[in-house]
Amino acid sequence: MKLLQIDSSARSASVSRQLTAGFVSAWRRENPEGQVTQRDLATTAFPPITDEWLKAAFETPDKRTGAQQQVLSLSETLTDELVAAHTIAIGAPMYNFTISSPLKAWIDQIVRPGKTVAYGPGGPKGLLTGKKVAVLTARGGSYSNGSPKAGYDYQEPYLRVILAYIGLNDVTFIHAENQQRGDQAQQAREAALAQVERLVAAASATASERGI
Ligand SMILES: Cc1cc2nc3c(=O)[nH]c(=O)nc-3n(C[C@H](O)[C@H](O)[C@H](O)COP(=O)(O)O)c2cc1C
Repeated sequence: MKLLQIDSSARSASVSRQLTAGFVSAWRRENPEGQVTQRDLATTAFPPITDEWLKAAFETPDKRTGAQQQVLSLSETLTDELVAAHTIAIGAPMYNFTISSPLKAWIDQIVRPGKTVAYGPGGPKGLLTGKKVAVLTARGGSYSNGSPKAGYDYQEPYLRVILAYIGLNDVTFIHAENQQRGDQAQQAREAALAQVERLVAAASATASERGI
């Protein structure tokens, strides 16, 4: 089994990084033979999406020039990491009511025609089926249903849409909210970490029932 850990916070003392670390250690306990790939988007140097990049991405692979292969090389690596993974844990800080720019830059590199999404007469079809995704967020405030700022959450709804677009429909969100509300931050963090543990344990129990 393969787990892909993705971090996208600018901060080393980051709450979303604590959640992905908790996910990885629980997953390693359940999958001692498993393989973990770590991808830190905050230290990944992303090439811009240029005219050249787009032409290369939409060209059939065997017709790509050397220069086009070169411009797509990070995208190929990132997409291969995703295709190889059975489970994906994404750490996502909320910045300005949405995702961080490194996470958006990663998305622009991995939504790839022919690799993660196919365009046919029936419209786009996501190709990454059969994988489990956990999105582990950290937020300064609270955006839960019914709260005054619930409508400001452009993080979870966007991620649900774009992940489904590439076929990732089995997605669980765990939020460590209120991280900028001193008295509530620690309790929210601990609750999120406990949810992470329960999620990994439940996924392992389901997998062993199915004999996976
Ligand atoms: C640039 C920036 C923008 C932020 N914008 C928001 C925001 O819109 N809403 C919110 O609730 N918290 C916001 N925060 C607070 C972070 O979501 C919070 O500190 C969270 O813990 C960040 O995740 P991390 O600990 O993994 O870095 C922002 C923080 C930064 C640095």
